[in-house]
Amino acid sequence: MELPVELIGAIENIMENVPTNRLATLVSDISKRYREGKLFINDKYLATYDEIIAYIVYRMPATYGAIFTALNCIKEVYRDFHPKSLLDVGAGPGTAMWAATSVWHDIDHITLLEKDENMINIGKRLSSNSHYDSIKNSKWLKIDLNGSFDIPKHDIVIASYSIGELDTNVQQKLIKKLWEYTNDILILIEPGTTYGFSCIKMARETMLSLGAHIIAPCPHDNVCLIKDNDWCHFSSRIPRSSIHMKVKKGKLSYEDEKFSYICVSKKNSQYDKKQNYKTSADKERPHNIGFMHKRRT
Ligand SMILES: C[S@@+](CC[C@H](N)C(=O)[O-])C[C@H]1O[C@@H](n2cnc3c(N)ncnc32)[C@H](O)[C@@H]1O
Repeated sequence: MELPVELIGAIENIMENVPTNRLATLVSDISKRYREGKLFINDKYLATYDEIIAYIVYRMPATYGAIFTALNCIKEVYRDFHPKSLLDVGAGPGTAMWAATSVWHDIDHITLLEKDENMINIGKRLSSNSHYDSIKNSKWLKIDLNGSFDIPKHDIVIASYSIGELDTNVQQKLIKKLWEYTNDILILIEPGTTYGFSCIKMARETMLSLGAHIIAPCPHDNVCLIKDNDWCHFSSRIPRSSIHMKVKKGKLSYEDEKFSYICVSKKNSQYDKKQNYKTSADKERPHNIGFMHKRRT
């Protein structure tokens, strides 16, 4: 799995003005903040323009890989789906938009919600390099997900790596709101950690209580049997560029991004999920199509 070539070129262009050493220092600071759970500084996820560029160089390939892998699994089981519109929530640089358009080429109307102005500006710069008119003409809205906002319905609504960054007391309210803005499918993706999975599990319960039907990854709509101190995640293997290896000071030519996700639909589709999953499990799967790992602590 590779990022679209024009996205790789666009990322290389925006990082031109930031020296590699500085990027490496910023990447190390951001990783440390992630590990310590101190993501926000003065209510900003990434404080400066250069930090956002560092984030894009080091995180965008991995989150793109996770989203692309999840969407391909969804496409595999939700076959007759030809979405036209996409809402990307907590869009960051527009990662989910790039991944979704690579999976469903007919998407022609994209809206992105993001609160950070610098992130929006960089996201727009990246978008202008796309081969897809839908990405070039995408609509970026500066919106704080904690506040009130109103959006028309979209065929796909995706919140990737964003719900878990909100206060727990607003997460469920937002999920209910996103369900209202969904025409067909709602997808949530979070890091493959105990906390990331707990957000997904809470979202799963919330959406089932609203009448949602699960598309993936679970082959049933019943209560999730995974206990609170346990979690499940998938993995996506992403090749590392030479610049990524330099700024991350890594030696491996790839990284494995672990993620948890849930996809639900408003439609009670007629396909036989168990049959589909049996068929998928029988196939030899390439590494980047995703594996499920159930961890026990
Ligand atoms: C970890 S990044 C993920 C970006 C992107 N969705 C991806 O998968 O790569 C989280 C994004 O959510 C945005 N965000 C966090 N809290 C937000 C809020 N209250 N309103 C809008 N955006 C928010 C951050 O600014 C950041 O761009």
